[in-house]
Amino acid sequence: MLIFVKNKNMHSDSLRNKKLATRFIHAGAEPDPSTGAIMTPIFQTSTYVQSAPGQHKGYEYARSQNPTRAALETALAAIENGKHGLAFGSGVAATDAVMKLLVPGDEVIAASDMYGGTYRLFTKIYEKMGIRFIYVDTTNAANVSQALTDKTKLIWLETPTNPLMNITDIEAVAAISKKAGTILCVDNTFASPYLQNPLDLGADIVMHSSTKYLGGHSDVIQGALVMNDDALREQLYFIQKSCGAVPGPFDCFLVLRGIKTLHVRMKQHGENGIAIAHFLRQHPKVGKVYWCGFEDHPNHAIAKKQMRGFGGMLSFTLKDESVEAAMKLLSSTKVFSLAESLGGVESLINHPASMTHASIPREERIKNGLTDGLIRLSIGIEDAEDLIEDLNQAIG
Ligand SMILES: Cc1ncc(COP(=O)(O)O)c(C=O)c1O
Repeated sequence: MLIFVKNKNMHSDSLRNKKLATRFIHAGAEPDPSTGAIMTPIFQTSTYVQSAPGQHKGYEYARSQNPTRAALETALAAIENGKHGLAFGSGVAATDAVMKLLVPGDEVIAASDMYGGTYRLFTKIYEKMGIRFIYVDTTNAANVSQALTDKTKLIWLETPTNPLMNITDIEAVAAISKKAGTILCVDNTFASPYLQNPLDLGADIVMHSSTKYLGGHSDVIQGALVMNDDALREQLYFIQKSCGAVPGPFDCFLVLRGIKTLHVRMKQHGENGIAIAHFLRQHPKVGKVYWCGFEDHPNHAIAKKQMRGFGGMLSFTLKDESVEAAMKLLSSTKVFSLAESLGGVESLINHPASMTHASIPREERIKNGLTDGLIRLSIGIEDAEDLIEDLNQAIG
């Protein structure tokens, strides 16, 4: 018997038919059967008492099962329209679990432009274990088809990409992946489930750095995987408990709480994103603005098709593309804080070349358009006027 009983009014299956806001608030939320507590308790325990060997309430040891984590995993599945959710100690740990589905000799087709830590995991850890990575520009799905071999086991997409906001057509790549019998995993961190649901577009696994929009308050490191296939869930659960990169119950509580306000936060991130993208574009000292909401963004039509909005992430360059000019700006903001990470309520400014993407060799970075002068913004939910004023004074 599991500790959680179903809430008769709003159990997980019926959530599928509900609108986004209702789903985000009620996902995984079952009243605690022992007290009726509306908020999921933090089960801060490492083990569970058994009445006789093997006789327990569904929980044996907290690396394998924890009720707070179970509630979060139910929520993760609900918000991504999936059947199963799994929570990990970080986004990278979630990616690492997917990689452990592979064996030496297998090939992965991955986006040439993606988060630097994913690239580092692939090149520095898994390449030496005999996995081969083929990096292609996935914004053209034909490049994925051309890179397929009979050894391809996984296709790894990130859309929108960090930090260049490139968009890949998930449905088109999913069709290629299905035909080839490979697994398609989509890193949905930048969009969040509020804007995009890759499983609905044919992906096999959705990955999140829950550290970002799901948590939403810059106070937790965590990752997530969501999938529909039962066998895939069993394999990934086996990896989760065998390799042990599980999040603690307090962190699970924080992400559960974050998910409840995802829709209101994302709405504001998106509105501020629109205002700042247009402000930057008309600024005489600003060079290029990377934001998929512009009609002339090369992948705007796909973004419009598969996303419900364009979110709060964007990157830009100054007309003076020198590192010095970028550094001056990065040190001059007062509302935007200079920091790695993204997706919190407070606005952050970042220099990908020396911060989040420093693990990518310079030639590779430049080849993919990630120049030394590129500046990335994670636009928070403060007043847009204050954010614009801050950028305006910092650009000078
Ligand atoms: C798009 C993307 N994927 C994955 C990660 C890794 O997540 P974490 O830092 O939670 O391990 C990040 C972190 O910045 C990210 O931006």
